[in-house]
Amino acid sequence: MPAIVLVGAQWGDEGKGKATDLLGDRVDFVVKFNGGNNAGHTVVIEGERYALHLLPSGILTPGVVPVIGNGVVVDLEVLFDELTQLAARGIDVSRLVVSANAHLVLSYNRTLDRVAERFLGSRKIGTTGRGIGPAYADKMNRVGIRVQDVFDASILRQKVEGALDLKNQLLVKVYNRRALSVDAVVDELLAYADRLRPMVADTSRLLTDALDAGRTVLLEGGQATLLDVDHGTYPFVTSSNATAGGACTGAGIPPTRIDRVIAVTKAYTTRVGEGPFPTELHDAAGQRLREVGGEFGTTTGRPRRCGWFDAPIARYATRVNGVTDIVLTKLDVLTGLEQIPVCVAYDIEGVRHHELPMTQTEFHHARPIYEQLPGWTEDLTAARSLADLPRAARDYVAAVERMSGARVSAVGVGAGRAETIVVHDLV
Ligand code: IMP
Ligand code: MG
Repeated sequence: MPAIVLVGAQWGDEGKGKATDLLGDRVDFVVKFNGGNNAGHTVVIEGERYALHLLPSGILTPGVVPVIGNGVVVDLEVLFDELTQLAARGIDVSRLVVSANAHLVLSYNRTLDRVAERFLGSRKIGTTGRGIGPAYADKMNRVGIRVQDVFDASILRQKVEGALDLKNQLLVKVYNRRALSVDAVVDELLAYADRLRPMVADTSRLLTDALDAGRTVLLEGGQATLLDVDHGTYPFVTSSNATAGGACTGAGIPPTRIDRVIAVTKAYTTRVGEGPFPTELHDAAGQRLREVGGEFGTTTGRPRRCGWFDAPIARYATRVNGVTDIVLTKLDVLTGLEQIPVCVAYDIEGVRHHELPMTQTEFHHARPIYEQLPGWTEDLTAARSLADLPRAARDYVAAVERMSGARVSAVGVGAGRAETIVVHDLV
């Protein structure tokens, strides 16, 4: 039975929460496989707005089992805060399952994320400051602390001691910070043990067993294709694999079980943080996209950088993720424009490139080559089929499909749950 992967096609904030929510009652498990509370999903249900950072958006759908996979880094303070807040709003949070192998984001990871960014100055990444990069660095460096360590106090103490040996030197000698005591770090973690224990499982086994039993599993990527540490605009990326391949390692599901890869792409482009962005607008048009599209970060509140749709990026996302279906979001934000520029290729030092160039240097020099598509003035929010759309909007969807190389299976025409056109069923 199907395992479905859902990823962002651009630099994040494409509206994955909405896409997940669309699939909601037809899937049994929703798994977050990478990232941590650097993510921000906004889901609007019956006028209620939910901003999720760490929890998979499946937490909002009754009957769905939300899973935090081994590839995620978990800040326990944030986890319990988010659970408490949702519970207070009447959401049943008891079904959450957390991988025993997921790594934890510790207080020193957060501290080091922020001080390191400050030290980088103009070379900064523009991280969310949530300790994500340092936590993944510890994982790769084999000094990470995992969820399961919280259930073995003596192992936990040994590991924290080992980690703090070096961290304290860094904090004190390089960054002029206070050293942390092993006791304080250990005690903070142990305080969560009792609440955490009933949620923790071998999630790889849970999910493969579920697939064997004919259940549907949705693997939800945090961040997006161009923020992937291997396939994104390195070093201006997050520290995990946000592309479809990351779903296998981050959830413990073999590649042969995955049937479908859905990419969520905005009808235009945004990015937060630093790094190259060929179609970025620095004028009133960019300001308009930001205001009409509500392009301010869910996690950090930062205004997002805005630009036109970029077809080479869409094609790249299709290729690197093996995309089978596209969910095109926020088409309504483009309403009212006379003409809509779409980047069809790049000019890089006088050479026309239809695909992303091989090197970072070339990408930094990419100038967008635009094609103008006709705009529309009609309100789209009531459209529930492609036929309900004005001609120009329908043509825009067709152009995205043609340029991306995958079929558009759903189109978002407003923020609400119902404001969506479903062209092909996603499950
Ligand atoms: P980090 O993930 O906090 O290390 O930040 C690395 C880069 O990824 C920065 O440019 C962030 O702005 C960006 N980033 C991380 N998470 C998200 C997200 O959920 N949406 C969009 N950008 C993100
Ligand atoms: Mg977001």
